Formats: sequence, structure tokens, C-alpha cells
Amino acid sequence: MAVLVTGGAGYIGSHMVLALLDAGETPVVLDDLSTGFVWAVPEGVPLIVHDYGDGARVAQIIAHYSIDAIVHFAAKIVVEDSVSEPLAYYDNNTSKSRNLIEAAVAGGVKHFIFSSTAAVYGEPGDEPVSEDARLAPMSPYGRSKLMVEWMLEDAGVAHDLRYVALRYFNVAGADPQGRSGESTAHATHLIKIAAQAALGLRPGMKIFGTDYATPDGSCLRDYIQVSDLARAHLDALRHLRAGGQSIACNCGYAHGASVIEVIDIMKKVSGVDFPVTLAERRAGDPAAIVASNARITSQLGWQPQFDDLTEIVRQALAWERRLHERTN
Ligand code: UFG
Repeated sequence: MAVLVTGGAGYIGSHMVLALLDAGETPVVLDDLSTGFVWAVPEGVPLIVHDYGDGARVAQIIAHYSIDAIVHFAAKIVVEDSVSEPLAYYDNNTSKSRNLIEAAVAGGVKHFIFSSTAAVYGEPGDEPVSEDARLAPMSPYGRSKLMVEWMLEDAGVAHDLRYVALRYFNVAGADPQGRSGESTAHATHLIKIAAQAALGLRPGMKIFGTDYATPDGSCLRDYIQVSDLARAHLDALRHLRAGGQSIACNCGYAHGASVIEVIDIMKKVSGVDFPVTLAERRAGDPAAIVASNARITSQLGWQPQFDDLTEIVRQALAWERRLHERTN
């Protein structure tokens, strides 16, 4: 039995592959390398460089490797881009996921774990937000993901398929052993950008909005360490294999940090007082979004191990330094 990891050469997917290997599982990676890297896939793990939306190819892979579960990470993830290119997002994140789910059903794969997002809630207002909150995505990105949750729900009623949809909050940090980290060429995520500013790889950074109704006026987010997130997928896999019901779960630590706090921690950890400018709000940013994690801890037995923002920032900085040395 093997586990198919779409997007396994990317940031979160590569940490999942490591978690699967560490747990004695057999991962198989399907990735088109549009944003992933060959070097991110550990030696000995099969890497199929192909479009995950090609149902016929996925059917072959399922049969060839005796796949019993699919963990589906492959996606486009930049919220702003989804506003300017909605159809590309609906094609890549939604239509192709439909094909993948169809191939799973046809190939007898009974377990499906899906990378969903906090963006399905839009601007919840209530913090922390529970899974029963109103689903009101504010971007094509959020909608492209929510539609996949709905497809899984419907497919699960009609077919012998059970799923866990994991709604990620703000994923950050890197493998504590330094084996992987966030390597995307065009960084948009706060902690990665702050790490680049600390290393002098960019002249400085901006704070997008300081007039929000939050304690210090900047946005609040729930930053979850990437290996903790990968382990949530292992817990989901165990849940499904043990006959557990389909479920959607938030992935976060149930407390937030502001943009200003994150930047202060990066300055402290790096010892560099890089330039920071106050800028206009970034379109589409909710003021605050923090996860309730009651469901994932009680239903999947997930236990966070790296709930420490200073440590997360330290990991991100160490990885950014390593990445820079690797490419220069
Ligand atoms: N920010 C800055 N300066 C920067 C970069 C980010 O001030 O240079 C701010 C943003 O405005 C935001 C916060 O830092 O307030 C976090 O921004 P990120 O881009 O790191 O993350 P987002 O919260 O925008 O995005 C995350 C996930 C998305 C998901 C979204 C749902 O990365 O995949 O949450 O709200 F869709």
C-alpha cells in the first residue's frame, strides 16, 4: 500500500513526504514542478512529473503503486492572483481536483485528504472560528477550495470514498532537521518575506495596514508550524483507515499574532533591524483569523509540538539562509 501525494515537491507537500517516511509509510509524489523542486523529494521516493488533473495518468499510478490514500496538496495559492486570474484558479484548483477525485473513485481509493484553507470562512468576525461558522470565501482562491470540499462531500455520499478536509490557517516555519522549508521563488507570505529582509535579500518590507480594529492595528493571524501541519495529515490518515467518518477540521493553534509582533520577533531572532514601512491595506485581507482547534484535537487526536512563534521564525530564517546558500 502506498500514499499518493500530489504537490509533494512543494512546501507543505514535501514536509508531508518526510512525515510519511518518518512514520514508515510509502509515499509516491505526483507534481508538475510548476512551483516545486526535484531536490525537495527525498531519494528513493518515486516522483512522477505530470499534471495531477490527468485522470488517465492518475489511474495508472493508482494501479501501479497500489495507492490506498491520496493526500492532495497541488494547487495555486496566491489569493491576489486568484482575483486577477479566477478561471486559472478554478481550472487548476477545482476542475483538476474533480478529475483526481473521479480517478480515486474509479481506482478504488477510499481515503482522500484535502488541503483546504481558512479562506473558506472569509472574514469570520468571531475568533476563534469553528468549523461550523458560515462559509463565505472572499476570493476565487477560497471558492476554488470550498467547491472541492463540496465535491468530496457529494462523492462521499454516492461512492465508497471518505475524506478529511484540513483547513489550514497560516502555515510557516520549516522542518526542524533542516530537510525542507518554503522555497517558492516569489514569496508573498509574511514570515518568509521578513526572513528575506533580515538576510538583506530585499531592501526591507512593508506592513500592509495599521488601522485595523486589532490591538496594535495590524492584522492578526494564527501561524501553524509546517511539520505540525504535516502530522495532522498523518492523524487524518489514521482516522480514515480506522473507519472514521468524513470531516472538515481547522488546522491552527487557536491564538494569533499580529504582523507587527511577527516582524519584532524576526528582528530579535536575526539581530537585524531591517527597514519596515507602513503601507496601505492589501486588498482582501481579513483583519483577524484564528482557528478553533477543538475538533481536530478531539476527533483526530492531533497534538501540536511546535506552538512557539519564536521557534517558527527561527526555523524560517535558518531555512531561508540555507536556501540562499544553495542557490548562490
Ligand atoms: N503582510 C504584510 N507584509 C508583507 C506580507 C504580508 O504586512 O510583506 C501581512 C498581510 O497583509 C497579512 C499578514 O501579513 O495581514 C499575513 O499575510 P500572508 O500573505 O503571510 O498570509 P495570508 O493571511 O494573506 O494568507 C493565508 C494563506 C492563504 C489563505 C489565507 C486565508 O497563505 O493561502 O491565509 O486568509 F488563503
